[in-house]
Amino acid sequence: MIIEKDLNNKFMQFMNIHWLRPEAGFFKIYDYSILQNLFPLPQPSIDLCCGDGITSYIWAGGEFDTSFDMYQSVNEADIYEKDLDTFDCFDYYEKEAVKPSIIKKPDWHFDCGLDLKETLVDKAKLLNFYDRTVVHDLSDPMPFKNEFMSAFSTTIWGNGDENQCQFRIKEVNKILKKGGKFVFRVHETKFKEMMFLKYYEKFGFNWAKRLDRYMYVNNPPESMDINWWIQCLEENGFRIINNYNYVPRLIIWFYLTGFRPMFTSFMKMYRFLIRREMELQCS
Ligand SMILES: C[S@@+](CC[C@H](N)C(=O)[O-])C[C@H]1O[C@@H](n2cnc3c(N)ncnc32)[C@H](O)[C@@H]1O
Repeated sequence: MIIEKDLNNKFMQFMNIHWLRPEAGFFKIYDYSILQNLFPLPQPSIDLCCGDGITSYIWAGGEFDTSFDMYQSVNEADIYEKDLDTFDCFDYYEKEAVKPSIIKKPDWHFDCGLDLKETLVDKAKLLNFYDRTVVHDLSDPMPFKNEFMSAFSTTIWGNGDENQCQFRIKEVNKILKKGGKFVFRVHETKFKEMMFLKYYEKFGFNWAKRLDRYMYVNNPPESMDINWWIQCLEENGFRIINNYNYVPRLIIWFYLTGFRPMFTSFMKMYRFLIRREMELQCS
């Protein structure tokens, strides 16, 4: 059981931030069970695909009070439903709507945060967690060279295209100084084996495609296994220091079958209740 005493706070933080999608919080706690031994990373450091920065902020020891969550500025859930997982409802920024209420600052920080989406980078800026932020698509060459002692990413694999991954790993090597470290997470093949999509592919069940919510677009079942990653890293100038396989099947099931497929409905209910509360306040 990974929930030891010092993880309690982190657990509560992630459960509060992700209260509509607690399965995401569970994942982040499992990530932290490994990351707590690797953080803080040598500086200067870069958080690649940092998103709104909230996850890294909490991993670094930051704490928010319960009034803050990640649903303060999101796009309409019905649009999300239309395009399923290819549409990111968090890719939306309404300045007045996002109010991070910080009760504890992090114990360390990243020097740079990089993400494709300007809306998320704008949200990240509100945390004052990154000395600088960069909006950049990792499909293109990165605008740095020999600059960082460490790089971190939860999502370097993008949409799982082998050539893209090769390219990105090479780019990470380019931006690191000699002796620099790269810490990153990829989904294991067991994650892909457990996706709903296989029921659609094998039996044509449309419900499976719907529950999968096009997750396979981001995690194609044919994408790379651990041996592929080891070879890719070694070919691109990295020496592997450690490799952890840490997310239990139960948590993956919880993620895939529990709340994730229900998120659209939960979001609709939440919006309805907020509107209702505002109407009641006005009347
Ligand atoms: C699942 S989120 C993870 C965010 C954050 N690291 C976390 O763990 O909460 C994936 C992030 O990758 C970013 N991303 C996706 N494709 C990208 C690309 N080609 N270049 C840069 N960032 C990208 C997305 O905008 C999104 O913020």
